Amino acid sequence: MARFTDEELKQKVQSGFIVESEDEMTETYKKALITQLTVQGDTELMSAPSYFNAAKDAPSTNTMVSSMAIVQDELGHANIAYRLLEDLGISRDYLLYERQPHEFKHPYGFDQWLDNWAELVVANGLFDRAGITLLGDVHRNTSYGPLKRALVKVGLEENFHLRHGEVWMRRLCEAGGEAREKVQRGVDWMFPMGVEWFGMPDDKKRHNAQLEFKLKGFTNDQLRQTWLNAVVPLCEELGLNLPAHWDEDEGRAVIDYEFPVNFDEREKVWLLDEPVTWEQAFDRWKRRGPANEPYVESLRVGRLQLEDMMAA
Ligand SMILES: [Fe+2]
Ligand SMILES: [Fe+2]
Repeated sequence: MARFTDEELKQKVQSGFIVESEDEMTETYKKALITQLTVQGDTELMSAPSYFNAAKDAPSTNTMVSSMAIVQDELGHANIAYRLLEDLGISRDYLLYERQPHEFKHPYGFDQWLDNWAELVVANGLFDRAGITLLGDVHRNTSYGPLKRALVKVGLEENFHLRHGEVWMRRLCEAGGEAREKVQRGVDWMFPMGVEWFGMPDDKKRHNAQLEFKLKGFTNDQLRQTWLNAVVPLCEELGLNLPAHWDEDEGRAVIDYEFPVNFDEREKVWLLDEPVTWEQAFDRWKRRGPANEPYVESLRVGRLQLEDMMAA
């Protein structure tokens, strides 16, 4: 390690140098990469129990198979990120089995229960879209070679999840009645969740190691805008209400409330007229949401049962 200084490495990666192994990193680069991969792996991992629970509500054997295929993909994506972390000296066992549930680094959106099939497909349409936006940027721009190559497979599969979400959102909206109402209810709580997903606005962030080391190419606000520009027209086309609209003059989607705002966890309802500070939003994320512990436990229970069985 430390063949280069941080400044030298920043310049090298900005002009196209691809890092292939640990001896080409600085400590600061390695730390930023570990943070990025942990968030990535944990997000993939937590999407699995979240989708799995709602997939039990699938309306047919075909849809059960396709939603279980999505769950399987997500576990595979988590495995890819954790495998890359293992090359950087972090054990997969530690990541999966030794952390407290609140120590996982996924977005707060995956600390919530998805209540039914409609919520699963809205999550595919909105949350997988957030995943594609973030990982698509990493795939195109990352200076870490092993991650760039690994993301080819992830990207293809994420597109399938997104298509599944959008096709089903349309189908349920066209059916009208309760089906449409459930999609609307899902969008009501998942849209503001997606807005928060991309983190603090750029003007509040002083410096960003991930951008400087080219672990990503675009800023939080740029990525949030990319997501909004895809999600808002889709929802408008489906006749769903959103606290956002497409602005013809600006040629982009615009959010109609000041975020971050307060969230009622029990009712799964955003209080859009109750703004909070970013510190309060971070506290909510750190406290984690109602499904955090059950999701982590559900991922561990099989291993614990097997250990008990083998010890008996
Ligand atoms: Fe994934
Ligand atoms: Fe996905």
